[in-house]
Amino acid sequence: MGFEEMPTNNFVESSFWNFDALFQPQQHPARDSHDTFFLKVPSTTRRLPEDYVEKVKQVHESGGYGSKGYRYNWKRGEADKNLLRTHTTAVSTRMLYLLARKPFSPKRYFSIDRVFRNEAVDRTHLAEFHQIEGLICDRKLTLGDLLGVLDDFFAQLGMGKLRFKPAYNPYTEPSMEIFSYHEGLEKWVEVGNSGMFRPEMLRTMGLPEDVSVIAWGLSLERPTMILYGVDNIRDLFGPKVDFNLIKASPICRLGLGLNSTTTSNDCW
Ligand code: PHE
Repeated sequence: MGFEEMPTNNFVESSFWNFDALFQPQQHPARDSHDTFFLKVPSTTRRLPEDYVEKVKQVHESGGYGSKGYRYNWKRGEADKNLLRTHTTAVSTRMLYLLARKPFSPKRYFSIDRVFRNEAVDRTHLAEFHQIEGLICDRKLTLGDLLGVLDDFFAQLGMGKLRFKPAYNPYTEPSMEIFSYHEGLEKWVEVGNSGMFRPEMLRTMGLPEDVSVIAWGLSLERPTMILYGVDNIRDLFGPKVDFNLIKASPICRLGLGLNSTTTSNDCW
């Protein structure tokens, strides 16, 4: 589909790139140590782009681009704190910031990599898992474009029949959860989250006024569990995985949905 891969080879991220640049307020519960792993050493980042940091502070405190902002006292100390990134959207944000530093050209980016959340581990949750993320940055994109791209993208993964539900992310407006009908489970299953990045994020970076960004994210493990009928995420990934299963499994099972007993749509 013409997407370029983003460089996601940094598990450690600053709060600034993980949260602040995404217009996520500093009091947001996701920024609590109950939800996020903060680093002890080194506990703070060494370098941030100072002129951009000043603009992010301004937009949080008093808004701009048609927004009132959050009207609180933004603290540099919070932005400096190092963490294990909670989403790959931190990398998407860095990429958009770099894009805004050059004459504008449209882009399609994707990534698949590790994220970390301070969660109680159970059969459907791990404290580290993988996210798949996609974004398109172009002039005059609309919610209709996002709906169309999501239909195409998920159809390629064997997930036809999508439904969308309004949702909330601090960095997207509008935001939508994505559901797909699973023929085997006979129910609608949540398969991702999506939206259009807010002007408070894009204009602050300096992207031109008529440029919009549509984006979405999903976990790699969840659709994989459903596709292969794995009911405990710890059997799929992490220290409890059975090595014999790994050794016996083919590296690539792309044909699975296309063999004699199933069609690609049966996977979902
Ligand atoms: N960052 C979101 C998450 O972690 C996914 C997402 C990406 C949502 C891009 C909207 C846009 O769930």
